[in-house]
Amino acid sequence: MASNEQIDLFNAIELTGAPSTAEFDPELIPTSAKIPIPPGTYASTEPMVDHCNRCHRCGLGATRTHAVVGRGSLQAPIMIVGEGPGQNEDETGIPFVGKAGQLLDKILASVSLTEADVYICNIVKCRPPENRTPAVDEMDACRPYLLEQIRLIDPKIILLTGASAVRGLTGDKRGITKIRGQWIEWDDRLCMPIFHPAYLLRNQSRDKGSPKWLMWQDIQVVRQKLDEMRGELAPTS
Ligand code: URA
Repeated sequence: MASNEQIDLFNAIELTGAPSTAEFDPELIPTSAKIPIPPGTYASTEPMVDHCNRCHRCGLGATRTHAVVGRGSLQAPIMIVGEGPGQNEDETGIPFVGKAGQLLDKILASVSLTEADVYICNIVKCRPPENRTPAVDEMDACRPYLLEQIRLIDPKIILLTGASAVRGLTGDKRGITKIRGQWIEWDDRLCMPIFHPAYLLRNQSRDKGSPKWLMWQDIQVVRQKLDEMRGELAPTS
């Protein structure tokens, strides 16, 4: 190639800058966290599952068996966001299917919430080795997928289980015991930080003020808010 042609190409890239949504080639997504994933890239969660299974935007892709994208209803009014897949989830490709997930399902059932009412996903879609907390750069690399899930599902309420989920979505670094049970607004959406079910498995007391007892208070508030939003209850404060 003549050197002036190379210069022309270079100029073209400079002028074009980052790819617009219209020109965006989704095939390029998995290669690097430097390549943006523009909002509107996915028309449904299916191609996202495919991309996540080929994604190497962070190092977690190297050790996963399956990417774990989501389960539940695509029309769910409530989205539940966990930290990241564990071993059972990595093996099956389905979020919250281990002990913590079984407890989560029980918590939801205690206020008559079913799979039709919730969509469950995680901050990072691939299992961190040894179930360690995902690193900030891993959460950042995976965040566009979560933002697309939120855009597609359009939940009325987002429950953030544990400090990593809060930090990964909102950037808030406060401890979960400080902020659980409080409504926070993020991107014009109503979110509530709650304890992670795995934390409840390690704290079995049901006494007043215990983590399990607090979770029971929080999930009832969530149920009430959903009923209010559906017009089935008069609004509380
Ligand atoms: N813990 C999480 O945060 N997510 C899962 O999917 C399973 C356990």
